[in-house]
Amino acid sequence: MKGIILAGGTASRLKPASFVVSKQLMPVYDKPLVYYPLSTLMSIGIRDILIISTTNDLPSYKELFKNSHIWGIEISYAEQKTPGGLAEALLIGDSFIDNKPVVLILGDNLFHGVGLGKQLMESFKEPGALITAYHVDNPIAFGVVEFNQKGVVTSLEEKPLHPKSHWAVPGIYFYDETAIERTRKITRSSRGELEITDLNKSYMHDKQLKVIALKNHVKWFDTGTPDSLLNAALYVQQNQQEDGLLIGSPEVVAWEAGWISDQTLSELALAVNKSRYGFHLKEILSGTK
Ligand code: TTP
Repeated sequence: MKGIILAGGTASRLKPASFVVSKQLMPVYDKPLVYYPLSTLMSIGIRDILIISTTNDLPSYKELFKNSHIWGIEISYAEQKTPGGLAEALLIGDSFIDNKPVVLILGDNLFHGVGLGKQLMESFKEPGALITAYHVDNPIAFGVVEFNQKGVVTSLEEKPLHPKSHWAVPGIYFYDETAIERTRKITRSSRGELEITDLNKSYMHDKQLKVIALKNHVKWFDTGTPDSLLNAALYVQQNQQEDGLLIGSPEVVAWEAGWISDQTLSELALAVNKSRYGFHLKEILSGTK
């Protein structure tokens, strides 16, 4: 299975902070935001990953991940010249996807939950697509989903004025190999974008769109605003301090999956040994955490 991280966009809600810094490279407490969705893909078991970003920002991602093969994964890169919508990622990633199923995750989405990766992996069944649902107080700001007891989606709306439920659709989507063909049939919305909701509706109309509700054991942040970015950082700080574990650490996910050895984790910890992150890695390796 392939994975795509969509890390372009305009980040207009984060201006002026995002004038010269890509949103997904901003820190969420102790690590760049993009580490979190990357770790989520890895926890699903995905090792072949495409990062899509803007022409300006792509070199920074290449620099950040220049040694990522040490984590037992392979990262490729592709440009999105202008922000043409979330579903456009599938067209940009066409040759990378290579007729395989794919997970698309938004570069500014942070998920945390023990066993979440395994749960998602086991819930996705081909043919079809899988989305998630997260209970929110203010659904008008999100894609909103309704579903039946079998987890089959019955309605999907993008930022509705009168939402039919309180279930928002977070930025992680599982698609079978028909996704590209379906995306090609979508027309651009009034804002000029290929909308992910339209792609999901295509599966819904074929009764092939499943949803899994992320309940209490999962926390989700869409970090598009200064407040949500700060709240995510506070959440990570508090949880890491409480249990000494690292949230959103590719090194830890790779080590737990057996993709890297104790020796490699020890070397990775050494490379950042002046930071608390490095200290945590050493503790995790020594089994004190
Ligand atoms: P958004 O938060 O919807 O858009 P944005 O990041 O441009 O921010 P703003 O609304 O404040 O202007 O995007 C969600 C994620 O998808 C984010 O990681 C950026 C990414 N994205 C792209 O890479 N390309 C796109 O065409 C769009 C629309 C978003």
